[in-house]
Amino acid sequence: MSTFSPDISRRDLLKAGAVISASQLIPLRSVFAEDGVREFELVAQISTTNLAGDFFPETEVWCYNGMSPGPEIRCKQGETIRVKVKNELPVDTTVHWHGLRIPNAMDGVPYLTQDPIEPGKTFTYEFTPPDAGTFWYHSHMNTGEQVGRGLYGALVVDEVAPIAVDRDVTVVLDDWRLNENAQIIDDFKNRRDFARAGRLGNSVTANGSVNNAIAVRKGERVRFRLLNAANARIITSRFQDHKPVVVAFDGQPTEPHQPEGHAIILGPAQRADVIIDMNGTPGESYHVVDGFNPQSPIPILELEYDQEEAKSGVAKGSSLQLPPNPIVKVDLSEPQVEMVVLEGGDLGRMRSANVDGQDKGLSELFLMGKMWAINGVSAFRSTMPPMFKVPLGKTCVLKFSNQTVWPHPMHLHGHHFTVIEHSGSRSQIGRILDTVMLGPEESATVAFVADNPGKWFFHCHILTHAEAGMMAIIEVS
Ligand code: C2O
Ligand code: CU
Repeated sequence: MSTFSPDISRRDLLKAGAVISASQLIPLRSVFAEDGVREFELVAQISTTNLAGDFFPETEVWCYNGMSPGPEIRCKQGETIRVKVKNELPVDTTVHWHGLRIPNAMDGVPYLTQDPIEPGKTFTYEFTPPDAGTFWYHSHMNTGEQVGRGLYGALVVDEVAPIAVDRDVTVVLDDWRLNENAQIIDDFKNRRDFARAGRLGNSVTANGSVNNAIAVRKGERVRFRLLNAANARIITSRFQDHKPVVVAFDGQPTEPHQPEGHAIILGPAQRADVIIDMNGTPGESYHVVDGFNPQSPIPILELEYDQEEAKSGVAKGSSLQLPPNPIVKVDLSEPQVEMVVLEGGDLGRMRSANVDGQDKGLSELFLMGKMWAINGVSAFRSTMPPMFKVPLGKTCVLKFSNQTVWPHPMHLHGHHFTVIEHSGSRSQIGRILDTVMLGPEESATVAFVADNPGKWFFHCHILTHAEAGMMAIIEVS
């Protein structure tokens, strides 16, 4: 690993006269097309940005509209939007709208739901997000590398009647693997990452910067939308001297509650909406840290209090319960029950797996870069036969058994599932998620109503795991 050190404290930076970026995400401008549809434009391109701070050169990234995270797409629940994606990269790409329950043809999985967007070409996505909440968009082509290089952004669907807050702040978290010149290390096919915890970075950013600060005022109520866009890092956010109240996971409202230990744990691709009543001291600043490694928490964000207190504090005292989204309740009286056995990885028990219809032993699998399997199958492309089919409208129960010593955030496209059982953390039970975290050797049961027809991708969101076989297709028809 490189000698790049992201651990310079903010105080040191201030002494050195460094600029702290107070960057809120830039909203993507929209125009109304002739037919009245709100239209956005994303350009996938190569650009440079300062990820690592003033002491380092700019980093070359692959990104949307010149920035990573890309600009924030924002619309209202029930509103139709159209996004024109122009590919100015030298390689094929697509865009997936993570967590949005939209038609299959708009889902952005290359070869499965659309042809890749070739260099110089444009593809237009159009859909009506049924759910309000915090979602995101990201490349789904050669995903580990393209997301790892910065091709993602936040997508927020506003409630028709949102809860009252003074500030609404999206915080996109990521980690990057940088060399001593702050350039992305080009080892996206690193075998060790494939077989173990995935591609972890050495530099953690909030909204694309290591020195990010957000201005707040005492007395304000702030809604933070935290999004983990990392390839593999499980991010544990802690707000120094503040007590966040979680109101939604993966875009879906939950009963407002203070999480255990006041920490927000997000696996790759997961989101949480949290409300914080700002009660710090005016003029002071407070850290938000990532406790991924409990021995050395990394500052990811500063909350900088203005000298002045908020005047009105309008939002305080009002309800924190978000209105429910139109998700059909699962019917557990006669569900279709499917096992989902996760196998493989270093120190695992997997001895063979099926690749493209043929059984392969461990050494052969290793040579092919296939190190993980779901139900004995190590996936090799996105047009494989479905793992199983569910009739439209039926409730499907997935019984996960993680028979590996590694964590897996498992994501199903086009649907959200309800957590029914979880051996690892009871607190996850009842959550409605698009991505469920399974710790080593854990098991969990989730259920969803298969009400969105199509062939849906289902995979681990540790992107190297998916690439190395941990993916499948579930067909709803
Ligand atoms: Cu966010 Cu198939 O992924
Ligand atoms: Cu995994």
